[in-house]
Amino acid sequence: MKKHLCALFDLDGVVVDTAKYHYLAWREIASKFDFDLTEKDNEQLKGVSRIESLKLILEWANVSLEKEKFNLLLAEKNNTYLGYIETLGTEEILPGIKEGLLQLQENKIKIGLGSASKNAKIILDKLELTSFFGAIIDGNQVEKGKPNPEIFLKGAAALQVAPEKCVVFEDSAVGIQAAKTAKMTAVALGIPDSFSQYDYCYTDFTTLTANGLAQLF
Ligand code: BG6
Ligand code: MG
Repeated sequence: MKKHLCALFDLDGVVVDTAKYHYLAWREIASKFDFDLTEKDNEQLKGVSRIESLKLILEWANVSLEKEKFNLLLAEKNNTYLGYIETLGTEEILPGIKEGLLQLQENKIKIGLGSASKNAKIILDKLELTSFFGAIIDGNQVEKGKPNPEIFLKGAAALQVAPEKCVVFEDSAVGIQAAKTAKMTAVALGIPDSFSQYDYCYTDFTTLTANGLAQLF
């Protein structure tokens, strides 16, 4: 019997190198109130929804805003971000991901997306990867963001697979927490120090290798 029947992928920073564009767009917003958003700060924003990210930045910068101004900044951040991803193409798919998706598909493993981003569908289309995903759960479909497990539990339910039979691929600490709370196997992609818990940790999909991926399923 197969160990796992389903692979759930985070998007930004796992499938595609868009984490850098989120960072650049937030830096521009933060600079409006003279706050220098560092890469270290940005680590805490990975996997975090747009609204929660802005709340955190304002807290760090010690700034409080009226709701109207807050919403304007949210829209501005997204416009800047959309500008960065306008020309996004298949060359920005992260190394090993396309090969991994093909391998999973050939082995009849169900594939889902669990992303906090409300731009997930546009991005998958630009990357020409949409057809790989049997279920796409994004920031428009959840009430509670990561580390709440809702996003991955909805993905598993949509694909009709028990949570224990799912493997989650994530680059954010909150995403790994969400996967573990959902009782899924969590594969962290990045440096081990960035995560408080995980089942496996690899730098990226190429270090996981085809053999490593096969052993998970
Ligand atoms: C996550 C990113 O995937 O999506 C976060 O890691 C981002 O950085 C979040 O804030 C929400 O994205 P969007 O596209 O809805 O602003
Ligand atoms: Mg991510």
